Amino acid sequence: MTESKHKNPILDIEKLPKHIAIIMDGNGRWAKSKHKNRLEGHKKGVKALKDIIKTCIDINIKCLSAYTFSTENWKRPKSEVSFLMNLLEIMIKKEVKNLKENNVKVNIIGNKQKLSKKLIEKIELIESKTNNCTGMILNLMINYGSRDEIINAVNQIKNNKTLSNKTITQDIFQNYLYTQALPDPEILIRTSGEKRISNFMLWQISYSELYFTDTLWPDFTQNELLDILIDYQDRNRRFGGL
Ligand code: IPE
Ligand code: IPE
Ligand code: MG
Repeated sequence: MTESKHKNPILDIEKLPKHIAIIMDGNGRWAKSKHKNRLEGHKKGVKALKDIIKTCIDINIKCLSAYTFSTENWKRPKSEVSFLMNLLEIMIKKEVKNLKENNVKVNIIGNKQKLSKKLIEKIELIESKTNNCTGMILNLMINYGSRDEIINAVNQIKNNKTLSNKTITQDIFQNYLYTQALPDPEILIRTSGEKRISNFMLWQISYSELYFTDTLWPDFTQNELLDILIDYQDRNRRFGGL
């Protein structure tokens, strides 16, 4: 994307989205293009995520949701899965202090049942240490799948006796999603050139503005994010109205 195509190439602080969601894709292809092992791509991907978190903090984005590991990613070779789990564990442990200092509240979102005890310990640590932070909310989706989230909501509602005679509205239903009271993302970004959603936030992105970029996730920079935000400010969001 280039700045010249925007009507107003200046970021308007008053018109920022509250919630940005990102499908961080392309780590493996980034590594391949550099004749490196896929795992190097994941390491570089963590670095890119840290930079984007910092940018979002700097420009005062209220919520960032990052798709980190899907319910389908278990299909990958065992060695890659364990590398990713280990990388997440290290990253989460390492970032507690920094995120807390930056007033970032971290939520790990997804089905935790399948995660290792060690990873769950780190998750509980970062969630409790940052629980009172009031700046940005950072959602890291780990073992997240939107269909799993929706089915989990249905089962919780089904098993809740206080709801048995109630008509389930969208507002009630939403409260049982992993994202609960968070506002829907105004923007969904997917890197790596793939134009699909891959089971990410299906309910929440009903009216999100979609951005597909060919950039591979490890190469995604602050400038590209700012460019997307400038473009977003020119979009006409109608929500079905006129
Ligand atoms: C995204 O990069 C990271 C995860 C899905 C965990 P990929 O690992 O999917 O990279 P590509 O798509 O193979 O290039
Ligand atoms: C989506 O990427 C999941 C994450 C970015 C964590 P994938 O690489 O798993 O998606 P597909 O397989 O290309 O649809
Ligand atoms: Mg991929």
